Amino acid sequence: MLSKDSSNFGGNFLFFKEVDSTNRLAKELAVQGAKHGTVLIADRQTAGRGRLGKTFHSPVGGMYLSVIIRPDFPVSDMMSVTACTAAAVFCALQDYGISPKIKWVNDLFLNDRKICGILCEGGFSQTGHLDYLVIGIGLNLQKDENLPHELQHIVTDIASETGQVLCRNDIAASILRHLDRFLNEIHNRTFLEIYTANSYTIGKQVIITHQGTERTGLAIGYTQDCGLIVRFQDGSEAVIRSGTARFTGELG
Ligand code: BTN
Repeated sequence: MLSKDSSNFGGNFLFFKEVDSTNRLAKELAVQGAKHGTVLIADRQTAGRGRLGKTFHSPVGGMYLSVIIRPDFPVSDMMSVTACTAAAVFCALQDYGISPKIKWVNDLFLNDRKICGILCEGGFSQTGHLDYLVIGIGLNLQKDENLPHELQHIVTDIASETGQVLCRNDIAASILRHLDRFLNEIHNRTFLEIYTANSYTIGKQVIITHQGTERTGLAIGYTQDCGLIVRFQDGSEAVIRSGTARFTGELG
């Protein structure tokens, strides 16, 4: 079982017109004892957080959601939780006939541009035990007329790409349903088949940045714990579990 109290998501929904970051607030609430499955949704964020200390542009017209989970699995499964979440977003969009691609480890792409980012942040007890996990999902639903110039060739939204304007709360509910299922089955790795079959990364040349060094190789698959398997030009292979992967020709 996933949760300590076996509850599903959504017993406690908190909606905000504006918040700095649903992840930041979710962490604060988790420390104060918020229950497993507490969901925060904002119309917009003023300081949305992305991976590697980046900001996540969060205007009205997107879905900005964080869910607090109290897991009973080890810290080493955190990367799998990100992948589970990506698979859940994929399945929810598939229900609308939309087929994005999943870029390792935490992004979804549609027509070669980013529509969704995922940020999982953990909180630890003094003994190093994973006390809570906040899973944050930002999904671009509608066109942002003020999208910063530097993001215009990198980012897109579902309405612009498909002509469909999805109901924010419906897609959120669908994502949470799929996520709950995948997390409950995390040890069976049911999400991994979907994650792999719809990869944007596998088969591409990637530049791996790790501890200040860069290496280029071919992404050939994922390990069971969602590490990226890369084959280098000399035939050697490595599993990348941290750092970043970007495609050759892509901006850093
Ligand atoms: C990334 O692209 O690097 C991850 C972006 C994650 C954004 C979501 S939006 C909801 C939640 N609150 C945040 O501040 N960040 C996540």
